[in-house]
Amino acid sequence: MNKVTLTINGQKVTVPAEYTVLEAARELGINIPTLCYDPRLSKPGACRLCVVEVKGARNLPASCVTPVAEGMEVETHSPAVMEARKTILELLLANHPNDCLTCEASGACLLQQYAYEYGVRDPGFGGERHAYPLDDSNPYIQRDLNKCILCGKCVRICAEIRGQHAIHFAYRGFSTKIAPALDTDLAFSNCIYCNNCVSVCPVGALVDKRTAGLGRTWELEREEKTCTFCEAGCQFF
Ligand code: FES
Repeated sequence: MNKVTLTINGQKVTVPAEYTVLEAARELGINIPTLCYDPRLSKPGACRLCVVEVKGARNLPASCVTPVAEGMEVETHSPAVMEARKTILELLLANHPNDCLTCEASGACLLQQYAYEYGVRDPGFGGERHAYPLDDSNPYIQRDLNKCILCGKCVRICAEIRGQHAIHFAYRGFSTKIAPALDTDLAFSNCIYCNNCVSVCPVGALVDKRTAGLGRTWELEREEKTCTFCEAGCQFF
């Protein structure tokens, strides 16, 4: 196996040549924030929260999609990186409901956690906000697209792990949203309610209706179950 040695925050690390900078940083126990990254799924480099500073690079590359290279010098928490991450969080929060007090994901929401870590108190940007109706059309998953940050994890886990392709990116620009084919409600799609999408949503856009209102995630116990909705027998927690 080919290996490369690079320096991250002044520490040398030797990793397999196919690693990304994010993976190399994790080898050193360095915590780089991520919203769209999941090691089981393809990497779109969509949220840009994982940006880092690479010596000699003209911009701040996303560490989750930047391959390591021999002799590379990386800073993961330089002033420029911290400022960029803060701006990304402010942009996300500028079009996000300010309802953390009652949000089902409060306390388990990555956007909330990073806003706290990066000291984002005021989104700082004005402008249009989405006002999608709540999709409460099915018995298992509640979808609030006003909270969706378009990380695409739900789309990828549905396609790449479940093979269902029940949801996709639809429309363009500010109108971009995650939707079943023909932009119907989830109840009219080929969703099998395995709830894998709920398990990877980093915010409160997708909520398991069976546990909603029963308590915070850390107050509940997880049990492995077999879904009996159809003959597929999906395992879920
Ligand atoms: Fe790297 Fe989203 S985690 S771009």
